[in-house]
Amino acid sequence: MRLCRRCQQRTSRIYFTHRKPDDGRYGLVDVVCPWVVLKRRPWVRLILPCLEYEGSYRDYITELGNEERYPFPLDFDHADFPAMLAKLEQFRMGVDLPQGFVPSTTYWLVDQQEMIGVANLRHYLNARIERAGGHIGLGVRPRERGKGLGATLLRLTLEQAWARSIQPVHVHCYKHNQASARMILANGGVLDSEIEDGGETIQRYIISPSR
Ligand SMILES: CC(C)(COP(=O)(O)OP(=O)(O)OC[C@H]1O[C@@H](n2cnc3c(N)ncnc32)[C@H](O)[C@@H]1OP(=O)(O)O)[C@@H](O)C(=O)NCCC(=O)NCCS
Repeated sequence: MRLCRRCQQRTSRIYFTHRKPDDGRYGLVDVVCPWVVLKRRPWVRLILPCLEYEGSYRDYITELGNEERYPFPLDFDHADFPAMLAKLEQFRMGVDLPQGFVPSTTYWLVDQQEMIGVANLRHYLNARIERAGGHIGLGVRPRERGKGLGATLLRLTLEQAWARSIQPVHVHCYKHNQASARMILANGGVLDSEIEDGGETIQRYIISPSR
């Protein structure tokens, strides 16, 4: 665990990387925690999905291209945007859920008029997601990655989990997904176990509220 250079908190760390103008390579330029990222971008906040961000949502999906989408609600058909919002609300309320799904709340991380990331918080675990999936799935739009926003999104989603008395929180990721694993570690994740699934290793982390 390192100290944030700005606020000296020990809880988490972010390597803040920028493209260097001289040689075009990426370099480590700063070490700050998610709270400092929020201070630098004071407009970043977590919201429930709403009509206001329809244009930005469509841009986000285009930006993802053929990439696998995380979390799963990004796969919902959004041609009829209000219908998609209604479906997200049904998931939140636990109404007409597909077989095997538990109620879950989708949050959008937004910065003024732009959507930056999406998180999905499962309200409880069933056997399937306890094994692989966990309580939280999340992703950041490609052009905003590597700036500490994934760790910030996870931190804000964990606050929602604590508010619902969901604890400890299970967060899973593929072992090869280093950005995801480090984002979880930066939020106090403790590796609980690893399992094999479809030829891939899944790491299962547990996060408890800090005292
Ligand atoms: C995983 C994801 C959400 C991380 O978001 P992000 O904004 O890029 O991450 P951050 O900038 O907050 O960085 C978090 C940690 O990952 C590290 N990291 C970021 N990009 C990385 C990369 N490409 N390779 C290795 N580590 C990386 C950071 O250095 C930081 O680690 P540190 O705290 O030890 O320094 C983002 O990469 C993403 O959306 N990926 C696609 C969807 C996905 O894989 N979701 C997770 C499914 S479990």
